[in-house]
Amino acid sequence: MSSRKSGHMKKSRYFLGADNTELARLRVQHEAFLPTTMSLLKQAKVKKGECWMDLGCGPGFVSLELSKMVGPTGKVLGVDKEEKYLREAASTFRRKNNLSFRQIDLENPTFDKKDRFDGVFGRWITLFLANREKTLRLLANQLKAGGRMVFMEYVNFRSISLVPPEPSFDRFATAVQSAYSANGCDSSAGQFLLDIFQRLGLSITSLDVMVAAAKPGDDLWTWFEEFSFQFGPKFVEQGVLSESERQTYERDWKSFAGRKTGFLLTPPLLKIIATKKK
Ligand SMILES: C[S@@+](CC[C@H](N)C(=O)[O-])C[C@H]1O[C@@H](n2cnc3c(N)ncnc32)[C@H](O)[C@@H]1O
Repeated sequence: MSSRKSGHMKKSRYFLGADNTELARLRVQHEAFLPTTMSLLKQAKVKKGECWMDLGCGPGFVSLELSKMVGPTGKVLGVDKEEKYLREAASTFRRKNNLSFRQIDLENPTFDKKDRFDGVFGRWITLFLANREKTLRLLANQLKAGGRMVFMEYVNFRSISLVPPEPSFDRFATAVQSAYSANGCDSSAGQFLLDIFQRLGLSITSLDVMVAAAKPGDDLWTWFEEFSFQFGPKFVEQGVLSESERQTYERDWKSFAGRKTGFLLTPPLLKIIATKKK
């Protein structure tokens, strides 16, 4: 598996951006969700010598974890459409011989028939794909018998909230969903995966949902704070939130953080493993 560009590369950009600020945010997000990611990979029984793909790998955080699990006799291919992330990943992990990266637009991918995988992992990627079923079907064809599709996606983003409730937070959360849909994405794409995998003839071998009560100062609290403070101004530019709503949201969030009680209810994150029959 070499690092090369797919001949069908389109010019559409990842709408949250591919700059250093977003790269740093993805790192914070990865750290906050690392424990639940690792427990899912353990459940998927990633083995030494296996060949895995990390779909929409970004800067390759999970690709690295997979490469440790498959060891020197295995292989991991990270694919993403953003050159900036792939360059970053290739340079950070240049000493890892079992890890390579390839630029592919997953809206319209082509895969080499020779590239067969024991597993495909995807975290926060199918929400960006209008053609997710078509892409997952192509990937299912690349899976070896007994191969696993392992995905983590929000299943009901609408339920993110502060407890006790805070109207300016609810307004912000609605703006997030509008911003995603205005860009052709579905923030709750996890709700479709069960049916899609069944239509593809895969067996659902594990199904779970992660939801947490994050208190101010927790990693998951910081994760949402970074996301919302970074993208608030962009949502205003996009017209899904007014500037005064953004300012009220930030003020209320900071004052909520000073309370003795109260928490952020995180959006339920589907953790699903679907297996190809032997
Ligand atoms: C929220 S980030 C998640 C990155 C990584 N999976 C993680 O969990 O750290 C979404 C990633 O999907 C990539 N992406 C979005 N649309 C894509 C597409 N059509 N084809 C390939 N990659 C895409 C973005 O460039 C970005 O790196």
